[in-house]
Amino acid sequence: MRSPYTPGVGIEPNFLAGRESVIEDYNKRLAKTAPYGKNMVISGLRGVGKSVLLKRLAVESAKAGWIPVLRELTKRSNREDEFIRGLLAEIALRLKGVTISRQQKTIGIGTKVEKVSEELNLDHLIAVFEKHPGDKGEKLLHTLTYVAGITTQLKYQGLVLLLDEFQVLDDVDGHFGLSLILDTISRLQSSTTSPVHFVLAGLPTLLGKSIEVKPHVERLFPQVVTLTALEDKDTRKAIVEPLKQLKVPGRFSPDLVDLLAQETAGYPYFVQYFSDIAFSTFEHSPISRADFEGVLPEVYAQLDESFFAGRLYPLTLKERAITLATAKIVAPFTPSQVLEAVKSFGAEVTMGTVQQYLLTLQNKNVIYKVRRGAYDYALPLFGRFLVRCLESEDPTATLREVGQ
Ligand SMILES: Nc1ncnc2c1ncn2[C@@H]1O[C@H](COP(=O)(O)OP(=O)(O)O)[C@@H](O)[C@H]1O
Ligand SMILES: [Mg+2]
Repeated sequence: MRSPYTPGVGIEPNFLAGRESVIEDYNKRLAKTAPYGKNMVISGLRGVGKSVLLKRLAVESAKAGWIPVLRELTKRSNREDEFIRGLLAEIALRLKGVTISRQQKTIGIGTKVEKVSEELNLDHLIAVFEKHPGDKGEKLLHTLTYVAGITTQLKYQGLVLLLDEFQVLDDVDGHFGLSLILDTISRLQSSTTSPVHFVLAGLPTLLGKSIEVKPHVERLFPQVVTLTALEDKDTRKAIVEPLKQLKVPGRFSPDLVDLLAQETAGYPYFVQYFSDIAFSTFEHSPISRADFEGVLPEVYAQLDESFFAGRLYPLTLKERAITLATAKIVAPFTPSQVLEAVKSFGAEVTMGTVQQYLLTLQNKNVIYKVRRGAYDYALPLFGRFLVRCLESEDPTATLREVGQ
């Protein structure tokens, strides 16, 4: 029997647990008139389920008569031209088959007016974009408004742009991808007639970056949803419902469900990962807590290698040692707590040194700033991973060198 679990990136689970209220709220907003009121940001760490929620919201908006255009951004999206071309290509794909008819005058012997029809494909959209006067922002605004107009003529409600991995956008190296899109959202907001709205998803850093570029960015997004771990009852549903769908509701014993809920702490990726291994490793039924506990060391060895270790590899020995020292404190932590933790290994370090390391660890995506003066790990359950590392690795000697 194939496992009903879906560990991976953006893979829609057989049972989407714990997102009912966000979906319901989005649907309510879709029914509201002001396009701006529908804008939304979904933020959260890797593996909490942003991408699958975004896909689901695209489906919901389609059901409500909107045309959803979903894009996953990459670093290259910072280049305005690539971003625009990619976006227009996606829009063209969504509207495939639509033709635009317009009057065309041909002047030869006398003037002839004829109706020509043109397919709404990428070339057409690029022509609309290029012909419009003004900077790229104005051209993009015009093109989106143009497309939205067509969607309403076709009796749709309008256009929804759902942009995933939004945190990759940055104004760097003479490119202004982030400003371009935030400006577009802002200008669309002030025009009450264009039925276009945005749903952005990405890592928690996305808001900070956006605020740097556009100080009033919060006003563009009346709804910011921060996804975290699932509540316990939803975690259990995420584990049990796929079994019910497969008509093997008793495959996991209740004490195994308890163990899975506890080990995964409700983080969707881990829920899928652990449940998948439990399901695939044993053939008998029911699978008990004791069965799974027997393979837990191997499960963690694999998980650590595939999910966590990649964040430690790029670090220098000293950076790694400081990171390991934070296993002694509970995140979110302050710089002074980190200082205490490092000192507890017998190292003589100053606050300035700790601050410097925190900045580096932030740049290397090990931690991020939750708020002023408080940091958390950039991966869920990373603290527990560090505790496991400390069992086989002693950073004391390296930490003593840090202070010298
Ligand atoms: N609400 C949920 N219920 C059950 N499984 C989920 C849920 N959300 C996400 N998942 C699972 O978690 C994993 C990570 O989801 P994904 O959307 O890729 O996370 P993110 O985009 O936040 O990194 C996938 O394996 C997906 O199937
Ligand atoms: Mg994702």
